[in-house]
Order: sequence, then C-alpha cells, then structure tokens
Amino acid sequence: MDGNFVIRGDIFFTPEKNKCEMHPDSYLVVKDSRIVCVEKNLSKKYSSLEKHDCSGKLVIPALSDLHVHASQFAFRGLWMDEELLEWLNSHTFPEEEKFADISYARKAYEIFTRQLVRSPSAHACIFATIHKDSTLLLCRMLEEAGLPCYVGKVNMDRNSTPGLSEKTEDSIRETEEYINEVLSSFSLVKPVVTPRFIPSCSDELCRALGELAVKYDLPVQSHLSENLSEVDWVKELCPDSTSYAASYKERGLWGRTKTVMAHCVHSLSREEELLKDENLFIAHCPDSNTNLVSGIMPARYFLDNGYNIGLGSDIAGGVSISLFDAITDAVRVSKLYHRHVDERFAPLTFKEAFFIASKLGGSFFSKTGSFESGYDADILVLDDSSLETPLEGLTVAERVERYVYLNPKGAPEHKICQGKWLF
Ligand code: GUN
Ligand code: FE
Repeated sequence: MDGNFVIRGDIFFTPEKNKCEMHPDSYLVVKDSRIVCVEKNLSKKYSSLEKHDCSGKLVIPALSDLHVHASQFAFRGLWMDEELLEWLNSHTFPEEEKFADISYARKAYEIFTRQLVRSPSAHACIFATIHKDSTLLLCRMLEEAGLPCYVGKVNMDRNSTPGLSEKTEDSIRETEEYINEVLSSFSLVKPVVTPRFIPSCSDELCRALGELAVKYDLPVQSHLSENLSEVDWVKELCPDSTSYAASYKERGLWGRTKTVMAHCVHSLSREEELLKDENLFIAHCPDSNTNLVSGIMPARYFLDNGYNIGLGSDIAGGVSISLFDAITDAVRVSKLYHRHVDERFAPLTFKEAFFIASKLGGSFFSKTGSFESGYDADILVLDDSSLETPLEGLTVAERVERYVYLNPKGAPEHKICQGKWLF
C-alpha cells in the first residue's frame, strides 16, 4: 500500500553539509508516507509492512528543483550564444507568447510533465507564463502525475513584447483568480506569486503582488542579480534603491512570506545582508549562469555562512531537467571560482552539492531530501549495475557520486513522492 512499506537496498543521504550516512544492505522504513528509520536488521514490529527488495541498488532521497521554467522546456538547447537580455527578447518572450494557445500549451506541458516525472526531482518551483488558463492546465497535469510543486502564473506589465504583456489591473485580478482556483482545485500543487523580475513589473504591480502573497500566505519567486546588464538596468529603473534586492524589498516583495530568488550571481558585497533571512532562499542555477554568460555564483560563501540555498535547473537557460547535472555543474563552477576568482573560497565537494540539492534546497518545500525520522518519503532507487566498471569494493557514497556524474539516460528505477510510488 502507498505510504507504508520497507525498501531494502544500499542507502545514502546527507543529514548535514559535511556528513553523509551510508547504510549498505539495509532497510528504509516508511509509515504514513514518512520516514521512520533505517535499520540493518528489520525489527519484528515492521514485519507486516510491504517489502520492496531493491538489494544491490542505491536508495537516495529525491531532490528539489528550486527554479525551472516549464514554458521553456520546448527550446532547451537552442539559441545558446546570447546573454540574458538579448536571449529573453529575441527568443524567450516570443516562445512564451505561444502559451496563449491552450492546444500548444497542452502539447508543451505534457512533454515537460513527463520529463519531470522521470527526473530525480520530487519537488519543483515552477514558472509558467502570464497565461492563466494554460498555467492551470499545467497545474492539473502535475497534480495528476503526483508531483508536489509550486507553480506560478508569471506577471509582466512592462518592457516585454506586445504579445507577452499584461495590463496592470488584469495581471493583478487574474493572479488572484489563479490563486483561488489552484487552492480550491488541487492538493499537491500550490500557487506561488511570480513577478518575472523587476524590469518586467511596474511598482504598482509589485506592491499588489506582495499584498496577495501576504493575504494568501503564499511564497514569492523571482530572479535577482543574474547578469551584469540586468543589474545595470535595474539601477536605471530604480535609481532610489540601494541594491537590486532592496528594490524588491521596497516594493513589498521580500521575505514577508517564503521567498526564492534565482541566481544571486552578483549579490556578494552588493546586497548579501538582505539575503541572510530565514524566509529567503537562493536558487543556484550553474548551467544557466554559464550558458547565458551570467557568471559564477559564490556558492561556497553562501553555504558556509548559513544562507538558505538550493539548486535550480533553470530550463531553458539550463539545458538539463536532471538535478544530477546541476549537482556536478555546481561543483565544477565552484572549482573555476576558486581558481579564477578567489582562492579563499574552496570548491564545493560532491557531498556538499548533494546536500544543497536534497535537504537544504528541499527545506523550501517541506521536510524532504533526507532519511531522518519524520521526513517525507521522497525516495529514488537507482540501478548502477549497467555502468560497467571492473572496480570492486566501492562504498555506497562512491557509487552515488559515480551515478550522479555519469547520469545515465533514462529514469531512476523507482521514484516515490510523499509515499506514493510514481513508478
Ligand atoms: N530573468 C527574467 N526572466 C528570465 C528567464 O526566463 N530566464 C532567466 N534565466 N532569467 C530571467
Ligand atoms: Fe529563470
């Protein structure tokens, strides 16, 4: 039965940034869709639970994607020779216009949902487009697929293409309608207030969205200090603000409810004190930051100084929906930062990046991403037997690292979200 079971396998998780637990050939006990314990020898009291024998396979926590644009999945891997603002205007906005057509949205979101199901992520914080009806369709698909996600109808009332602009009052009204429809129709999928970024949203719109977040106690997601030309533009748009982060705060869009800001590549020494807030999460999107020539986010600084950070795929700035790729990209770019920017910032280790992608980023959503008692049963089973090697005697942690780096094509062997076996 969903929600109550035992999995036997080689178990791995990272309860702290510098600590991983390995339990070869052990049992993971789940009751009422929550983790109970990991045992080497299964206690009698659990013997009536349904047993899934995954001996020889890796059992790890499912991950959390803190920043992804479902509407951009269609054009992953295209138009990768431009920086952010040019890429938005010449490709991204015209593509997002297509979601006014519900039949196009259906096709595109079916593909996205299918691929997200097959990915290592149990949770995702998702941007759709400005279009209410197609965003509701995406919510329905994710709910039916069994994925606990936050989904935002995007708000944009300035500096966009004519086909992707809202009137301020329509944007506010439709957002409130959207919020009410999602809250009344779905249980796994939740709404998130989604001003695209300061250049796309007038002051009046920002203020109204901040009030909606407080009124319905909803999280806010947006972009912050991603690319230098964007940072300069925000300075022009908000000459009285001391920083980009301050421009959100002054408009009521900062930390009044849980808030996730993607990127923060250029936040250090500009605005980092505002990010040190228990309600603030940073979505680190290393593949996107490389592709759009945004730079390297100093993840080591934020991790060591107690900030809330998670990883994001940022499709289609990033090309891979798999957070396994985000983990290895985060490690790689942290090495470049160490060598080329500041030697005082040590590279991230694999285990630290895994911790960010699982438990730390997951804390935006719920108690997920760990196998400590009381955590949600968000679980992946991985079969590494097809990754041929003559090496013997690898530890469970080494096998997880190798699997994540090699990231074989195809879905995990099994994926369980909040106690429900998706496959
Ligand atoms: N900033 C504003 N919109 C976007 C977007 O769609 N992608 C990225 N990477 N940054 C943005
Ligand atoms: Fe983004």
